Amino acid sequence: MKGAGKAFSDRIIVWQGSHGRHGLPWQATRDPYRVWLSEIMLQQTQVSTVLDYYPRFLAQFADVAALAAASENEVMALWSGLGYYSRARNLHRCAQEVVSRFGGQFPSSAELLQSLPGIGRSTAAAIAAFCFGERAAILDGNVKRVLTRYLGIADDLAVSANERALWLRAEELLPEASTHQTMPIYTQGLMDLGATVCTLRRPVCLVCPLSADCVAAHEGKPERYPVKTRRVKRSRMDLWLLHVLDPEGRVGLAQRPAPGIWAGLHCLPVSASLEELMSQLPLAVQGHAIEHTPFVHVLTHRDLHLHVVTAHLDSAALDGLSVEAIEWFDERQWQAKGLPAPVRRFLEGSLVERV
Ligand code: ADE
Ligand code: SF4
Repeated sequence: MKGAGKAFSDRIIVWQGSHGRHGLPWQATRDPYRVWLSEIMLQQTQVSTVLDYYPRFLAQFADVAALAAASENEVMALWSGLGYYSRARNLHRCAQEVVSRFGGQFPSSAELLQSLPGIGRSTAAAIAAFCFGERAAILDGNVKRVLTRYLGIADDLAVSANERALWLRAEELLPEASTHQTMPIYTQGLMDLGATVCTLRRPVCLVCPLSADCVAAHEGKPERYPVKTRRVKRSRMDLWLLHVLDPEGRVGLAQRPAPGIWAGLHCLPVSASLEELMSQLPLAVQGHAIEHTPFVHVLTHRDLHLHVVTAHLDSAALDGLSVEAIEWFDERQWQAKGLPAPVRRFLEGSLVERV
């Protein structure tokens, strides 16, 4: 039982030192603003993508006061492409609350951090552990996987009592002495183990510091955890997007209402059917509209099937257009707007086709 004698947390800490991830830009700081920003970006986005967005965001908004003072559009434009836009809106609101409620200083406990918009229990704990050495347990998706496997917990975590029980286990496993030294390394080590060794498919138990007494590894089928009994069915949604160009070749965009899909972003006008889309165009234009091959954009719980219809408008047709709150943007202007990722991709593709 090699390694099993050593405490769980000691094994995680030793492993992080030799095999964990090092040199990521948000590991070089204890500034809660920088750590918070990285944790929010990393919530649903891969490290490699965040490495690209993170420095650009910091170059524009060097501290929480600068972010709080920015316009929503500026924030959305910099976030555009990271997806899950409610994260960006909460990010902005959180910065404003740090300024209004805490005088521009992030609070230094997980409990208070959790009272801010967009900061859940696990994210609050991560920030408090990284920046203040607080003895707080994280339990994000990766850590849930590690712990259910290690402990052999087959309960459905969608049942809240089961999730609460796992939080208690996560707290029991924390290092006994919490310091600025141990907590950041332990927390990062758990994240790293989940991301690189105890992966969703094909976990590499052979190199795992927990394998000596891991229940799932001994059972021989670790992928069985975490067990999901309540399944959410993936759904499909079809949307029709109107791609209209004015006589100067500018694109017509309308800001999406909140709440709803792509709330707050600028978007090609959205319809629920081809008929509804066509009814916005003057009759003379309808016959010339071009329907593109639909493309699929995959979201967490549903597949979006996007049908784009292009129409070029002369000035007479422009008068006959009936789309609420449409505004016209040339390429430089729409590039700078917060657009849904598939819409940006479509518009960029339509530039390539023209040349
Ligand atoms: N995912 C969430 N937080 C992270 C971190 N600090 N480093 C790497 N990946 C992460
Ligand atoms: Fe995950 Fe395997 Fe390590 Fe267990 S031994 S924690 S299943 S990688």
